[in-house]
Amino acid sequence: MKKVFVARIIPDVGLNTLREAADVTVWPGELPPTRTELLANVKGMDGIVSLLTDKVDGEVMDAAGSQLKFVCNVAVGYDNVDVSAAKQRGITVTNTPGVLTETSADMAFALLMAAARRLPEGERYARAGNWKTFGFTLLLGQDVHGATLGIAGMGRIGAAVARRAKGFGMRILYTARKPHPDVDAELGARHVSKEALLSQSDFVSLHTPLNAETRGYIGAAELAQMKPTAILINTARGPVVDTNALYEAMKAKRIFAAALDVTDPEPLPADHPLYTLDNVLIVPHLASASVATRNKMAEIAATNMVAGLRGEVPPNMVG
Ligand code: GLV
Repeated sequence: MKKVFVARIIPDVGLNTLREAADVTVWPGELPPTRTELLANVKGMDGIVSLLTDKVDGEVMDAAGSQLKFVCNVAVGYDNVDVSAAKQRGITVTNTPGVLTETSADMAFALLMAAARRLPEGERYARAGNWKTFGFTLLLGQDVHGATLGIAGMGRIGAAVARRAKGFGMRILYTARKPHPDVDAELGARHVSKEALLSQSDFVSLHTPLNAETRGYIGAAELAQMKPTAILINTARGPVVDTNALYEAMKAKRIFAAALDVTDPEPLPADHPLYTLDNVLIVPHLASASVATRNKMAEIAATNMVAGLRGEVPPNMVG
């Protein structure tokens, strides 16, 4: 029987599908395997089911052995997998697109609204016993309705965020490699330059994959181009934003707020100075974290693996 290593406990629906076709070893820890543990555990495996926390590079592939044929990432992003190293070794890489689009867009919008209306600050204020009266000028935020939303990266998730924004009467600008006439027609969105996006948007929401082009996409220069009232939302990948530049800008109140589902480094250490700033909202990479969506992601990753092991073409090949 083929052997598969699953790098973390994933929902049963995925594990059960895998077990129909393979001898499955599941990493039992709450924390991901360390590098040494990963290298040791993949040895002899035909397939690896990886999470975005597992760096699956040539070294890991070689540690597995030449029988390794499939790396099935349980995520839509796959910057943690070295796709060209896989290609060189005849290894197929898959991801889980589609099923998490709406759930991730919900989270981007939740962060947008929470930061705009200062929900975390309000919650902290109430819990701390500071609520003495209705404060007419207390914790004033920014309006969402009617504002301009700039979406960097008009893929599936970017478009799903834009659809939500339309319901709030927002004007939608976006950057992308090429215009998307379907989105323009459906939502009245406009393809613009990065400079126009940054300088005209009240909200800038990041929806690009992480690659050489998008690493550091938002740095000091970009933050300086944004409106002082603007809010930055990152549900893409941490390194799309330069953390130090963001810290400096937020400390100086250069923009109104930042809401981060992803950080660089990730996890953000408990003593990181970003946590000291009231205008920064941070959650621990939860965009696709609904019960239904995590089940679907596990199932799709397992389906990709099983298809591959059975000699069929996995539905979600990347690269
Ligand atoms: C989550 O970040 C994913 O890429 O699925």
